[in-house]
Amino acid sequence: MEHFSVIQSLCRVGLDTGDERVRKQVERLRDRLMKAADKQCADTLDRLLTAKQSEGAMAPSVVQVSRALVKGEELTANVHPPVDRETSVPLAEVLLHPAAGLPSPIHNETLQLALTALVNEWGKVDELRAMGVEPSRSCLLYGPPGTGKTLTARTLASKLDLPVINARIDGLVSSFLGTTARNIANLFDFANRYRCVLLLDEFDALAKMRDDPHELGEIKRVVNTLLQNLDARSGVGLTIAITNHQGLLDTAVWRRFENHIRVELPDLETRLAMLNAFLLPLSLEADVTKALAFVVGARSGSDLRTFADMLKRGLVMRGEAATPQALFASVKALLPRLGMGYEEGTPAQYLLNDENAFIGAAIHSSGLGIRQESLAQMLNCSQSKISRAAAEWSEQVQ
Ligand SMILES: Nc1ncnc2c1ncn2[C@@H]1O[C@H](COP(=O)(O)OP(=O)(O)OP(=O)(O)O)[C@@H](O)[C@H]1O
Ligand SMILES: [Mg+2]
Repeated sequence: MEHFSVIQSLCRVGLDTGDERVRKQVERLRDRLMKAADKQCADTLDRLLTAKQSEGAMAPSVVQVSRALVKGEELTANVHPPVDRETSVPLAEVLLHPAAGLPSPIHNETLQLALTALVNEWGKVDELRAMGVEPSRSCLLYGPPGTGKTLTARTLASKLDLPVINARIDGLVSSFLGTTARNIANLFDFANRYRCVLLLDEFDALAKMRDDPHELGEIKRVVNTLLQNLDARSGVGLTIAITNHQGLLDTAVWRRFENHIRVELPDLETRLAMLNAFLLPLSLEADVTKALAFVVGARSGSDLRTFADMLKRGLVMRGEAATPQALFASVKALLPRLGMGYEEGTPAQYLLNDENAFIGAAIHSSGLGIRQESLAQMLNCSQSKISRAAAEWSEQVQ
């Protein structure tokens, strides 16, 4: 289709607005192109639509939390958080627009539903009360590093249209006896005065102190203060805590949270959605994205974002168009810069050291479904090489 790249850019800009009418028109255009047998352009628009849908998946439009439910003064830029008495380090930072400048989180459907349910409770307060319950006010997000926990917590707050008081662990934890507990109490007092979400990121830093055998009395004091303050806050505002080390948390602290939401490393489908979103404005063939997801393996969203950024940088620096072949040459060049390709038996290592094994593993990887002709294009080799390598691989594994 003539001038399709311009049309594609227009569609991308339009979809960025999140306007449903634009989405409908892009869908119409995709369907017309499909009817006109322009499959390539139709597929490109389809990928654009899917990527944007995943980005905006943590949708529900903002739920307005009523002032009667989350009470307190309005936070403004002039409100200053308390500081540690000895070091003068602030105990928190105020984020008036907690999701400003951040991308939308992309998660698998199960997690998506859990997060959406949490937000939607605040839009059904009367119905919940008729059943004798209140919307949940506390949530613990836990899981491996870089999976988007902080991003998700800040997006949750923004979906509730509430600012965030983000606790600063470096300000809270003090080496002076009794000071950490006092800082915690001051932080909660401050948070309880305002309409906000209290975000306790890297929460284990407080619970972790239990490990220190010389500090028994102090640790008890800190955990007790935490428990008392979490209890007192349960009817006041919303609290989200985050940890990578859920095993370190005091069980009594753990119980204080109603929702325990595990944020896992992304599965294949989620990795594909992430790559589609992170690689924009590139819009790659589905098989190419699948092969990239296969090379990267079970990595976090944060690693995938770095990978996508490096890939785009690589293309620009080499002055190449994003053909499947150029992309794969670029991937090979960047794997060592990402510390990938050293682990035996991984797709990244195969790609660098044993192309036949890479082909065999990719073709036979369950659920991936890359076509042989696409793989031949990416690796710039003949289709007969692909079928030979695939056959050899199945003989070996049998
Ligand atoms: N699920 C995701 N969806 C979209 N982007 C993601 C996701 N996970 C990670 N990212 C990208 O990685 C960045 C870092 O994510 P974030 O800091 O939220 O992870 P985290 O789980 O809090 O990590 P840590 O445990 O190290 O604190 C995000 O700003 C985003 O660019
Ligand atoms: Mg984090």
